Amino acid sequence: MNKANILVTGGLGYIGSHTSVELINNSYNVTIIDSLINSEKFILERIEKITGKKIPFYEFDITNYKKTSECFKENNFDFVIHFAALKSVNESVKYPDKYMKNNLDSLKNILKCIESQNLSGIVFSSSCTVYGQPDNLPVNENSPFKKPESPYAETKQICEKLIEKFSDEKRKHGISLRYFNPVGAHNSSLIGELPRGIPDNLIPYITQSAIGKRKKLKVFGKDYNTSDGTPVRDYIHVVDLANAHVQALNRLIEKKSKKFYEFFNVGTGKGHSVLEVIKSFEKVNNIKLPYEIVSRREGDIEKIYSDTNLSRNELNWKAERNLDEMMKSAWKWEKTLKDLGS
Ligand code: NAD
Ligand code: UFG
Repeated sequence: MNKANILVTGGLGYIGSHTSVELINNSYNVTIIDSLINSEKFILERIEKITGKKIPFYEFDITNYKKTSECFKENNFDFVIHFAALKSVNESVKYPDKYMKNNLDSLKNILKCIESQNLSGIVFSSSCTVYGQPDNLPVNENSPFKKPESPYAETKQICEKLIEKFSDEKRKHGISLRYFNPVGAHNSSLIGELPRGIPDNLIPYITQSAIGKRKKLKVFGKDYNTSDGTPVRDYIHVVDLANAHVQALNRLIEKKSKKFYEFFNVGTGKGHSVLEVIKSFEKVNNIKLPYEIVSRREGDIEKIYSDTNLSRNELNWKAERNLDEMMKSAWKWEKTLKDLGS
């Protein structure tokens, strides 16, 4: 049975590729737009290999309104899942204008096209960075937006506000999913995270240190107010995260939304420190990881993990995979990349 037609922007990226697979597994029709600014064309073939489906693909930059609107006119999309954005916190501090332009202009173009082509709604990739360092943990969806700690986080806050206004004014449905820390890879090891250059994030740095691409992992700070002194995050397996998008679409299609604009945390509800992550990686993969403790990284918050009640009760979704499974799949993926020579 065929369900709705879904436009997946940024569908060749890390989370978009895993979500495209899960959408197709759930009988949705997927079309992808990606400019390849942070992804590789071969990922399209990988998604097709996993799913056995040919996927319509457009390569262009969504900040180009003419191309975006032509693509919408050529197709009969019902919903958009909007992943396309630049996502490096560090880079956003160096190039705030580039981040504002890419992340805001792309969303504005998508919203204009949703209105002009009369689509039903949008699911948006937000981030727990909208909360900053929250006052109460676990953080629930009623927590306020704090002053953004980076231009990247600011783009997510602005985008959420734009979607809220758009949804209420145009009577279209919008759901923002606030991801915690997505990690791991598909169990086929055909798709996974493809960091360019030196990774900023913990897991790719761990796997690259384990395989010998990096000398050793630097653990940024051991003087935080946490059980072992290292910062705590809510790591979530990317396939679980992908499935949250399927549930968000199901909610829209089954008309279960309670308001035009809704937002949900997408995490496991469990916080793990950096040293716990290292221990899990070492244990499940039987590897001794080279690492050293260094000083804190500027801009890092101490701890954050999600309250999962709303997503469990309303989205009917919960994470299935634990930290050990995340670490296993991340390592399997890194070894596959080595075999590819990348
Ligand atoms: P990614 O960089 O792997 O994927 C984003 C994709 O969008 C890439 O394929 C890129 O080429 C494409 N893209 C970017 N700008 C574009 C544009 N203007 N036009 C067309 N294509 C464009 O990133 P990801 O990790 O898959 O993240 C997906 C979304 O989730 C982003 O919005 C990101 O901000 C958000 N998010 C990611 C994380 C994380 O830790 N990975 C956490 C929270 C939120
Ligand atoms: N860390 C290290 N060494 C490293 C890299 C990271 O010790 O080489 C530590 C950090 O200090 C932090 C933890 O590992 O305590 C996680 O760091 P990441 O960079 O992997 O993740 P962040 O929580 O800083 O941010 C990530 C993404 C953001 C996203 C956010 C929430 O980079 O884009 O998760 O989803 F918004």
